[in-house]
Amino acid sequence: PYVNTKDILEKANKEYYAVAAFNINNLEFLQAIVEGGIEKKSPLIIETSEGAMKYAGMGDPLRGASLFVKMVREFADSLDIPIALHLDHGKNFKYIISAIKAGYSSVMIDASDKPLEENIKTTKDIVRIAHAAGVSVEAELGKLAGIEDNVASSESVLVNPDEAKYFVEETQVDFLAPAIGTSHGAFKFKGEAKLDFDRLKKVKELTKMPLVLHGASSVVQEMVEIAENYGADFGGSKGVPSDILKETVRLGINKVNTDTDLRMAFVAGLREFLHNNPKEFDPRKYMDTAKAYVKKVVSDRLELLGSANKA
Ligand code: G3H
Ligand code: 13P
Ligand code: NA
Ligand code: ZN
Repeated sequence: PYVNTKDILEKANKEYYAVAAFNINNLEFLQAIVEGGIEKKSPLIIETSEGAMKYAGMGDPLRGASLFVKMVREFADSLDIPIALHLDHGKNFKYIISAIKAGYSSVMIDASDKPLEENIKTTKDIVRIAHAAGVSVEAELGKLAGIEDNVASSESVLVNPDEAKYFVEETQVDFLAPAIGTSHGAFKFKGEAKLDFDRLKKVKELTKMPLVLHGASSVVQEMVEIAENYGADFGGSKGVPSDILKETVRLGINKVNTDTDLRMAFVAGLREFLHNNPKEFDPRKYMDTAKAYVKKVVSDRLELLGSANKA
């Protein structure tokens, strides 16, 4: 069924596991994610960025959002596993309202680059509108940036736990993304991977709510190697190792945002297939290997985070 993201995350919070939230831009990634969710009997959170809404709608975010809702609902309505659709990093009022209008299960309001009081005010406004429509809300505190890159200024970059408590009381958001040292993309750490576990622990103790880890891709070595065997150059790429992810779940993370790992798996499969089948040009065929690798990464992640058999 198609469900509210809040329901998926409150159960995860009570039972100490995390649900991956997978970013999509098109049908093929959705198909691969759904296959993984069915195989693992796991709840799923599908998310799209504002960029994805614009891309799918050919410049019209409401049209893009409506297409995503239709696609996701078509699967969700006919399947036993709970599936939610979330707007990731909503920054513009127009996009957030479009997602709510179109029927998303939840939206993120990301005003984390604004001063605290302004973040609170903006977030409150969105919470009021979203909750009236039965849509739950995620917000973010702190900035996504590697700890190594910001040694001197980590206090102002990473989440402040006392601020987090104040923020959630003021805004009434349903889940919170505290910055603890991750970053988006395939190049997260220059040296050793390192997150601020103490900070995460404090935020959980003070808020007790479902927490979100952004920039959580692991940069799966197997996929990097396949892609590089067939011409890619992903030199210097580094993600969040599995054992560190597991520790964040133990400390209270319930939603694990994952985009980069799926993109890399897809391109690995696409490159491999095209290299091995130079005469092929049927998209259903050249996307099959790509989708199979995305599904593998999805399944492994659902297992790792503990949401397998929680549907
Ligand atoms: O948070 C960023 C996500 O990976 C989506 O990125 O804006 O390129 O779609 P995007
Ligand atoms: P990755 O780039 O690590 O996959 O992070 C995705 C994300 O945080 C989307 O909001
Ligand atoms: Na999000
Ligand atoms: Zn993110």
